[in-house]
Amino acid sequence: MTAPAIELKGISKAFGPVQANKDISIRVMPGTIHGIIGENGAGKSTLMSILYGFYKADAGEVFISGQKTEIPDSQAAIAAGIGMVFQHFKLVENFTVLENIILGAEDGGLLKPSLSKARKTLLELEKEYDLKVDPDAVIEQIGVGMQQRVEILKALYRQANILTLDEPTGVLTPAEADQLFRILGRLKEEGKTIILITHKLREIMDITDTVSVMRRGEMTATVKTAETSPEELAELMVGRKVLLRVDKEPATPGDVVLDVKNLKVVDDQGVERLRGIDLQVRAGE
Ligand SMILES: Nc1ncnc2c1ncn2[C@@H]1O[C@H](COP(=O)(O)OP(=O)(O)OP(=O)(O)O)[C@@H](O)[C@H]1O
Ligand SMILES: [Mg+2]
Repeated sequence: MTAPAIELKGISKAFGPVQANKDISIRVMPGTIHGIIGENGAGKSTLMSILYGFYKADAGEVFISGQKTEIPDSQAAIAAGIGMVFQHFKLVENFTVLENIILGAEDGGLLKPSLSKARKTLLELEKEYDLKVDPDAVIEQIGVGMQQRVEILKALYRQANILTLDEPTGVLTPAEADQLFRILGRLKEEGKTIILITHKLREIMDITDTVSVMRRGEMTATVKTAETSPEELAELMVGRKVLLRVDKEPATPGDVVLDVKNLKVVDDQGVERLRGIDLQVRAGE
C-alpha cells in the first residue's frame, strides 16, 4: 500500500489554557487535494504551523512518505518537501517577484548569480503549472492574486511536493479563486499533494478529494468528499444540525432591500468572529 504523503499521529498543542490541537491524527494521501475545514479558532492554522516547524507540538509524531520526521523549524519542513502559503503572505514588498522567489535559496548566499539561473527555472515552472507571473514586477505593485502565485512558485522553486494553503481564497476575487483552483488541479495532475484549509463548504465540495473536519481543537471526521454533503460537513463543523437553506414557496421576489457582501464581524476584543458573509434580502420575503 502507498504510504501517506503526510501522516500526523496524536498531535497536541496548548497555548496556556487553550488546547488548540487535541490528539490529532490524519493521513493525507499523495497526489490528492485534502481539505481541512472548521470554524474560526478550530485549530487549523496551529496544526499547519506544527507541520511547517513554526510551533513545536506538545505531543505527537509526523511521518513524511512513511518516514518519521522531526520538523524543528521551517528549513526542516522545506527539506522534507513541504511548502506553505500563509493566510498573510510573507513577501518582501519592495523586491521583485524573481528576487522574492529565490530569497533564502540563493547559491552560496549571492543574489546576483542566482538570478539568471532562477529566471530559467521560473520560466520552466510557469510553463509546467500554467502559473503566470511577471518576474520583474515589484511585489507592492502587483495584486494579491499574483502575490499568491509568487508564494506558490516560491514553494515549487524549493521543490515542494506537499503544498499547504491556509485560507487562500479569503483575499481573492471569485475569478482569482477559480484561477487558483485551476492551478491546484494542475499541481495535483503533476503528482503534488495539496492541503487546503478553508471554512468555505463550496470550495471543499468543488475541489477536494478528501476532507477532514476540525472542531474545537479536535479532528472530528475524515471523509471522502464524494461521499459527503455540505449539510453533513456543516453539522460536523459545529456539532449540531445546521439549516443551510430555507425551503419555502418563493413569493414574487421584489427589489433587493438589503444587500450585504463579504461582511466581516470583529468583536470588541478585536477577534474576528465571522467573515465572507453574503446576504441578500428582497421585498416580500
Ligand atoms: N500563538 C498563539 N498564542 C495563543 N493562542 C493561540 C495562538 N495561536 C492560536 N491560538 C489559539 O488557538 C486556537 C486555535 O487557533 P487557530 O489559529 O489554529 O484556529 P483556526 O482554525 O486557524 O482559525 P481561523 O479560521 O480563525 O484561522 C484559538 O483559540 C486561538 O486563539
Ligand atoms: Mg487559521
